[in-house]
Amino acid sequence: MIQAPKGTFDVLPDDAGRRELLERNARRILQGAGYQRIETPTFEATELFARGVGEATDIVQKEMYTFDDGGGRSLTLRPEGTAPVCRAYIEHGMHKLPQPVKLWYLSSFFRAEAPQRGRYRQFWQVGAEAIGSAAPEVDAELIVLLAELLEAMSVKGTQLSLASLGTPETRAEYRDELTAYLRDHERQLSADVRNRIDMNPMRAFDSSDPSTREVMKGAPKLLDRLSSEDAEHFAQVRLLLDDAGIAYDLDPTLVRGLDYYTRTVFEFSSDALGAQSGVGGGGRYDRLMELLDGPPTPGCGWAAGIERILLSAGELPVQADVVDLFVALAGADLGRTGFSLAGDARRAGLNAQLELAGRSLRGQLKHADRIRARYVAIVGEEGTSLKNMESGDQLELSPNEVIPTILRGSRLS
Ligand code: HAM
Repeated sequence: MIQAPKGTFDVLPDDAGRRELLERNARRILQGAGYQRIETPTFEATELFARGVGEATDIVQKEMYTFDDGGGRSLTLRPEGTAPVCRAYIEHGMHKLPQPVKLWYLSSFFRAEAPQRGRYRQFWQVGAEAIGSAAPEVDAELIVLLAELLEAMSVKGTQLSLASLGTPETRAEYRDELTAYLRDHERQLSADVRNRIDMNPMRAFDSSDPSTREVMKGAPKLLDRLSSEDAEHFAQVRLLLDDAGIAYDLDPTLVRGLDYYTRTVFEFSSDALGAQSGVGGGGRYDRLMELLDGPPTPGCGWAAGIERILLSAGELPVQADVVDLFVALAGADLGRTGFSLAGDARRAGLNAQLELAGRSLRGQLKHADRIRARYVAIVGEEGTSLKNMESGDQLELSPNEVIPTILRGSRLS
């Protein structure tokens, strides 16, 4: 038996209702705030992620599905959506549009990670990006919108971590300071952290090694080193979140797995999730556009994992699709009549299904009951009878009376 590759999954009809509800909520919340849908290709030039996400990140170093397209070009299945959206912004000259350009997406992404609950190799994200404004209101509004989406999906036990990374310059100075501190304490650090001191010293804050954690307690914190403009921007974001009643924990060691962030970074986690507790996160990326050869343009955004939202969601009001009409056939040669009745019903705006399995009439009525059809039209040699499945009432009708009768009934109910 051929099975789906490790770390991938099928979205079966039973899961589809909850996913659709998520998409509807995302559309309502994001489009309501002026975000417009964008979809970018599933694969991009590898260089986009190498430059955009950062050569030193785990994503670029170990998690990308990269392949040669046969013509000597290196392509990569997208591991995230921000760099592609920025590429599209540059490629389509969106700087000429009124700013900020506010975009949202719901797409699948690919990372070669070790699969576990909530961590897959193909997964789905809903994301939002606001490009072209450095205003702190953008950051705060994005966070409020994600909080709203998580609330609409009844995500349980959420907690918001917030920090500011400042500008690349502040970060570079801080990085030197932190590197020097790590060198001074090299012997107490885990081999993994020690080997990455020059590559990515911030990752030391992420370590679960007890001795490394002890060292990191005394390490200098970036939040204490922000320039006055960055500190002011961050203070404003916090003020707006306080006004909006959004609770957060300041986490000066918040490390995101992507290198493009500047200033605000944030992450929502859920205690309903276990080890992979990050439901959604993002931040500001004011230098990313330049890294991709675009005009200097600030940006801010987030992405949230669809599967993680659904894993941590409570009861959701998923409604089964209404079946207005089931067309049953009371004889062998009535397929054509039934087929056109079902078609006419659909054109009249009804949800209609036709018997397709050659069941006995009893079997057809049982099936109509199982799919909770409101009406069954039993097409016979002599005429059609229409059964109201709720009241049990049955009317003998000519075929062209079936649809008007249901529509009248719909209007009455
Ligand atoms: P990220 O934190 O790498 O950010 O991913 C966002 C979310 O995607 C995570 O919080 C998690 O819910 C979900 N996710 C990530 N990897 C996996 C996986 N292997 N399996 C299942 N779910 C996963 C980004 O991707 C940034 N592009 C977010 C952003 C947008 N920043 C600014 N704008």
